Amino acid sequence: MTDPQTVLTERVQQALAGAFGPEYANADPLIRPSQFADFQANVAMSLGKRLRRPPREVAEEIANRLADFPGTVEVSGPGFLNITLDSDWIAAQASQTFEDERIGVPTVTPPQTVVIDYSAPNAAKEMHVGHLRTTIVGDALARLNEHLGNTVIRQNHLGDWGTPFGMLIEHLLDIGEDSAVAQLEAGMGTEFYQAARVKFDGDESFKIRSRQRVTTLQGGDPETMRLWHVFMDATIRYFNKVYAMLGVTLTDDDIAGESMYNPMLDKTCDDLEAMGVAVHSDGALCVFPPGFTGSDDKPLPLIIRKSDGGYGYASTDMAAIRYRTDDLKADRILYVVGADQALHFRMVFAAARLAGWLPETSSAEHVQIGMMLGKDGKRFKTRSGESVKLTDLLDEAIERASAAIDDRGYDEETKHEIAHAVGMGAVKYADLSISHDSEYVFDFDRMLGFTGNTGPYMQYAQARIRSIFRKGGYDPRAVRGPIRIGEPAERSLALHLLGFGTVVEQATMLNEPHRLAAYLFETASLFSTFFEECPVVKEGVDPDVRASRLALCALTLRVLETGLSLLGVATPERM
Ligand code: ARG
Repeated sequence: MTDPQTVLTERVQQALAGAFGPEYANADPLIRPSQFADFQANVAMSLGKRLRRPPREVAEEIANRLADFPGTVEVSGPGFLNITLDSDWIAAQASQTFEDERIGVPTVTPPQTVVIDYSAPNAAKEMHVGHLRTTIVGDALARLNEHLGNTVIRQNHLGDWGTPFGMLIEHLLDIGEDSAVAQLEAGMGTEFYQAARVKFDGDESFKIRSRQRVTTLQGGDPETMRLWHVFMDATIRYFNKVYAMLGVTLTDDDIAGESMYNPMLDKTCDDLEAMGVAVHSDGALCVFPPGFTGSDDKPLPLIIRKSDGGYGYASTDMAAIRYRTDDLKADRILYVVGADQALHFRMVFAAARLAGWLPETSSAEHVQIGMMLGKDGKRFKTRSGESVKLTDLLDEAIERASAAIDDRGYDEETKHEIAHAVGMGAVKYADLSISHDSEYVFDFDRMLGFTGNTGPYMQYAQARIRSIFRKGGYDPRAVRGPIRIGEPAERSLALHLLGFGTVVEQATMLNEPHRLAAYLFETASLFSTFFEECPVVKEGVDPDVRASRLALCALTLRVLETGLSLLGVATPERM
């Protein structure tokens, strides 16, 4: 590991243990970037209090033990340790990172099995903009985990089962299979659902047919199952269209919809009941995980079988969590789902712990997705109040991107490719550059902007470095270094590039891709300053200095390319 913050943490911990005893060997030295030096360590402040000694004195003692350190350590103010690294050390580490195929990103040992539940649109309704966000964030988490060497199992928990399918199949029969398929493939699931609903509410014989159809569906009647497949296959073709536009890694193999758990639900409930984890309450079968109470202070039930014998969302999630730990052998299960389902997941996780279906060694984590808002601050909708069809929304992003890159004289095909990359990059990066649980306003103008922390800005930053190489007639892969440090801008950039591995690791472990986005944004701006202040390809630059600067350009490019691809954002050659 060459990341200075990690190296410093270890060194200061050694100093702490040496000065104050082995119990401090794992204390957090509180190392942060500093305005006055490269880093500052704030540990002496809290430690002083604990040891009842002046923090300044504690700081001096730590500083004295950091003698053979590749830099200088100064005590300042009430007891801060200001740490400045030797430029030679930074240069050597940067050169080493440059030689490293993984540019400092570690591989986890042993690898973990990480199940990621994301996207999960509902077949009986339109895939909405909230599903877009869980799809994008989940996909980034899948890519990040795979890059660290974990085994990732994607699970697209489609809403593809339940009582509405009775009326949906009857409506499909009424309008004919072909026209139903055409509608569903075109993403008109909402209209289809609404038309069925109107009949269900207004037409008694349709209602009766629909209810019977639910029974034959649950009974596994072959013809009904065939119709269900016709419905689902067409719907999935539409979902796949959205995934393909976005460049999301989900495939049909990752589909593990609610229907998959249907055959397991009886046993799930029976086992929970036999263990005494589930009990009968008002005719329903419920788990009352400790610590959950309603507004009336009564214990809150997780209903796993309704009083009419039917199963619901919670039943399926109980079966799913058992399957994921028992059969898929998950070490971690990530549920990338809307924040409004927080209570549901806390209860499912608690119930699974009670049942022993989520062992101590495994974790279940709800990666909460914040609501997408319209410019009016309310849930995102079109002007007519309808929810927005995703393919239309994505098409609009591509069109707008196309207008923004209009005047560069590319041929039609190239232009379309770039517009696609920029449009989808803008939409995806907007989701990934802010924390996944914050609500945010869906605003094309902002996300397609070429300034600020946006997809197009980041894509432009990497395309610009490629053009530096292209125009100078250099191949970024043939550049050799070593990296040396002269100017302050070279130093800041090189130091920052050393932190890539740590940020990738943290973004993965904490399920926070926006940390990586923020790091990449900082990379791009440090690169801009470097490129303004340090001539690279200009005539008259000393050959060694040029070689070093070209290596810094190449390393920056690799960091941006790798980082963006881990976020699932395309890196077009030109823009
Ligand atoms: N289909 C659900 C929805 O649209 C999300 C499913 C999330 N996954 C789960 N295991 N419950 O709200």
